[in-house]
Order: sequence, then C-alpha cells, then structure tokens
Amino acid sequence: MAGRTAVRPAPADNYPMTIREILKMGDPRLLRIAQPVTEFDTDALHLLVSDMFYTMQSVDGAGLAAPQIGVDLQLVIFGTDQVNPRYPDAPLVPRTVLINPVITPLSADEETDWEGCLSVPGLRGKVPRFTHIRYSGFDQYGDPIERTVDGFHARVVQHECDHLIGKLYPMRIRDFSQFGYTEVLFPGLDAADD
Ligand code: NI
Repeated sequence: MAGRTAVRPAPADNYPMTIREILKMGDPRLLRIAQPVTEFDTDALHLLVSDMFYTMQSVDGAGLAAPQIGVDLQLVIFGTDQVNPRYPDAPLVPRTVLINPVITPLSADEETDWEGCLSVPGLRGKVPRFTHIRYSGFDQYGDPIERTVDGFHARVVQHECDHLIGKLYPMRIRDFSQFGYTEVLFPGLDAADD
C-alpha cells in the first residue's frame, strides 16, 4: 500500500470538511454491528473520511470509528503523525484509514492500560488488549492494508475496531477500581474534551 498511497493528496485537500456530532454512550447507534463498505474511491466515501479526520482532529482524538458519528459502516481512522495532547506519552501511530478490518491476535499475551473514548467523555479506564496483532483491511481507495503491530498501535486498532461490533471500552473493563474521571486520575492533563 505504501507507494501508491503516499503520492495521493490527503482527502482533506480536495473535499470540504464538516465537524460531525460524536454520539455518546447510551445512544443505541453505538451498539450496532456495522455494515461492510462495498464501494471504494467514491465521493461519498472520501467526504466521510475527510469529515472524520476533521472531527477527530477538532477534539484531539487518537482515533474515530464511523459508528461514532452515526454512520453504520466498517470504517475507522486513527493516528495523527504527531504527539497527541490527550495521550502525550504514547508512541506515534501513522495516520490511517482502515475499512472492513480483520484483526488477528498473534499471541494470547495481553496488556492492561488506560483508554479513553470520545463517546465516553471525561472518563478513563484500564482495559486489557492483545499485545501483538496483525490487522488487514483496505484504505478508502480500495488498496489493501496489512500490518503487524504491538503496544499502543495495537491497542488503538483494537479499540477503534470494537466500535464496529458495538463494543465500547467500558464493556471490556475487568477491574472497575481502575475506571474514573480523567480530571481526577490525571490532574493537569490537557483533556478538556473528554
Ligand atoms: Ni472510542
């Protein structure tokens, strides 16, 4: 995917951008099993991706799934190519559009670490995730993506793809003593939006 994708202009260069409303936990649209994308490289898909990046960037999100803006499709975006003020210590994750994803855990190893979600504002919880995964899918042009990743990158992908099967991170928490308000858990963190 690297070569061809790299020379394409970012969708945001060609499409008008709208900040979309992010649904909050409790909205039944967050609980649906999302439908696969069947047509790639269409104006509608590029506009959706463009809106999603603009919406995610407007609230310093680490990722965003289409169901979070009420769109019932298997499409997630993540990565910022720069330090995220909501996760200042996290390693950089490349800016990615991932459609119709499949995640394969590469071992049973799990790590538990803090997560937040734009659909669960103001809270953070410790969530177990597979440490090493392979993920595959397609970008908005229909070009295949396949990556083997670990750590924070693997966590972000698992969190975002969970949105496509109606799972929000609180549903994955095993120890509820490790779930609380961001302002209490992480005083001083620049997280005004969540
Ligand atoms: Ni989320």
